[in-house]
Amino acid sequence: MKIMVTGGAGFIGSALVRQWIAESDCTIINVDKLTYAGNLHSLADLQHHPRHIFEQVDICDVEGVEKLFRLHRPDAVIHLAAESHVDRSIHGPMVFIETNITGTAVLLQAARGYWNELSGEAKENFRFHHVSTDEVYGDLDWQDPPFTEETPYTPSSPYSASKAASDHLVRAWHRTYGLPVLITNCSNNYGPCQFPEKLIPLVILNALNHKPLPVYGQGLNVRDWLYVEDHARALRLVLAKGEPGRTYNIGGGCEKQNIQVVESICSILDRMKPLHSQSYHALITFVTDRPGHDRRYAIDASRIQQELGWQPLETFDSGLEKTVNWYLNNGDWVTNVQSGAYRGWLESHYRLPAGTIGN
Ligand code: NAD
Ligand code: DAU
Repeated sequence: MKIMVTGGAGFIGSALVRQWIAESDCTIINVDKLTYAGNLHSLADLQHHPRHIFEQVDICDVEGVEKLFRLHRPDAVIHLAAESHVDRSIHGPMVFIETNITGTAVLLQAARGYWNELSGEAKENFRFHHVSTDEVYGDLDWQDPPFTEETPYTPSSPYSASKAASDHLVRAWHRTYGLPVLITNCSNNYGPCQFPEKLIPLVILNALNHKPLPVYGQGLNVRDWLYVEDHARALRLVLAKGEPGRTYNIGGGCEKQNIQVVESICSILDRMKPLHSQSYHALITFVTDRPGHDRRYAIDASRIQQELGWQPLETFDSGLEKTVNWYLNNGDWVTNVQSGAYRGWLESHYRLPAGTIGN
């Protein structure tokens, strides 16, 4: 199979591409604009791999995207390219509208034109798999049951609203034009190669640099964490066996308050790389809360578990241990990613003097 993966140089996309190449005979057409979040260093081992073809294309570029379909004739598309960071969407929403909404519409149109011209098995088996987020469902109160595929959409941030809009477009292309789509809505991922603007890698790298570990508000907000390799396996399963037009929620069944996550990282580091004079816990710093901060996310993953037989392999403890270990042992990747753009973002966002957070 030839699979077009958009956003394959990002955090989840690169994990998916690495896993697919390692565990199957598929050829991957990796389409990525390489924004600040795209990093080919995460795919360094695949640089000369005959089944990994990288195309630097912006998904908003109509001609560029149409050309990709004509040139590569994929059997399926799995669409991950997006602006993905909630805080950035609060500071600058328009690029989220452009990439997440317009970019998805451009891809859908190009896929539809291509699919219309297919025939027989190629047409029947073609799939457009849209990778989305649990944030489209809004947030939960402490006692609410987890999100199901039927939970109404009530997104809170420009990021989640743009992802919700893209989900609606994907469903419209299915209902109106018959495009065989799949949608997955996943909870918070963590693991290797995640850009250190997101909570877990930010805390690991700040701790290693003896910098403050910023916890928004009181740190009581809850996220449902999933190791990225488990998400990648779920995505491959849904693409292979999911029913066109259907949505599948993906989550680890692993709800944690942010402060619990940060404390767990500190405890792992105290064991793996102890400081001489203090514990990493002393670096925890409560900072101004995120505007509109969603209280709690939790996923009911029973559909994908019962219909497709998916289960996460990692527990939070085992996945977090692997993740901390990866950041400790991949100094080159870390140095590469800590670019000027990254520093500038952290300094302006946290309003701290240059060099206080990140490096
Ligand atoms: P990421 O920010 O790490 O990677 C996004 C990738 O998309 C980057 O490689 C970037 O260069 C590329 N990209 C951005 N704009 C582009 C454009 N216009 N054209 C082509 N490529 C472009 O994101 P991630 O965390 O890997 O998330 C991937 C997808 O999964 C997103 O759609 C996100 O909404 C969704 N998702 C993420 C999580 C999570 O916890 N990270 C959870 C659920 C769903
Ligand atoms: O739920 C899935 C979503 O998870 C994905 O769709 C998004 O792409 C992904 O970024 C993630 O969104 P969150 O906003 O939940 O992730 P983030 O790592 O930014 O924050 C996790 C929690 O930690 C959140 O409650 C905010 C808090 N936080 C975050 C940062 C960056 C802090 O307390 N301090 C921080 O410095």
